[in-house]
Amino acid sequence: MNIILLGPPGAGKGTQSAGLVERHGMLQLSTGDMLRAAVKAETPVGVKAKAVMDRGELVSDEIVSELIDANLAAMDAGTGAIFDGYPRTEAQAVDLDAILAKHGRTLDHVIELEVNEDALVERITGRFSCAKCGALYHDTANPPAKEGVCDSCGSTEFKRRPDDNEETVRTRMQEYRAKTAPILPGYEARSIVTRVDGMAGIEDVAAAIDGILS
Ligand code: AP5
Ligand code: MG
Repeated sequence: MNIILLGPPGAGKGTQSAGLVERHGMLQLSTGDMLRAAVKAETPVGVKAKAVMDRGELVSDEIVSELIDANLAAMDAGTGAIFDGYPRTEAQAVDLDAILAKHGRTLDHVIELEVNEDALVERITGRFSCAKCGALYHDTANPPAKEGVCDSCGSTEFKRRPDDNEETVRTRMQEYRAKTAPILPGYEARSIVTRVDGMAGIEDVAAAIDGILS
């Protein structure tokens, strides 16, 4: 099973991917996470991407498609892929079809997380993650069970993303509307799009996604 989780910044793509990995043994391919790792490691890709990401704009199609191709090549053929934050442009959607074909895979579902944009700024400015294992949290909607301690690994170190400020979030939303939303009709024409209410609680969204995959 290969699926795309589509939705604007803060829609819950990362949160739901983590649940799918845990429940179904799929692998999450998040271009945002790959790029952040490259920035941290100061690789040539990371150095190029950093300023673009800090502005909330999109990194080049070539860079992200190469990252996806390399990650899929390293995956077991039997493991399902969750594309989180990719594709984000029409060119990337075309690239993904070619990359999937190259690796003998097909796209089964595009799941669109429908959210109210007004809620997204609050979701994003309240987000933090475990510095050790990357588990995602929110100040009010999804805090760790024990304050200051990661539920998943017990670490007490947390971090926030540099692009999680109101100004950058607005740019990221504009980029989504202008460049990413237009890829949906192409998938609709293939009858593989299902919409899920991303404003529901995290568990309810997960149950709706499981319903689509079953
Ligand atoms: P990326 O990392 O992909 O960021 P994004 O698309 O802006 O999405 P987010 O990660 O912010 O949101 P999410 O949907 O994962 O939400 P989450 O689950 O964390 O990309 C970052 C940058 O990298 C881009 O701006 C671009 O520069 C570059 N980039 C990446 N991919 C690219 C590509 N393909 N092409 C070009 N450039 C690319 O949830 C958010 C918060 O809400 C959390 O705190 C969570 O706990 C909470 N939450 C989640 N679900 C719920 C719920 N149901 N109810 C209440 N709270 C919830
Ligand atoms: Mg994410």
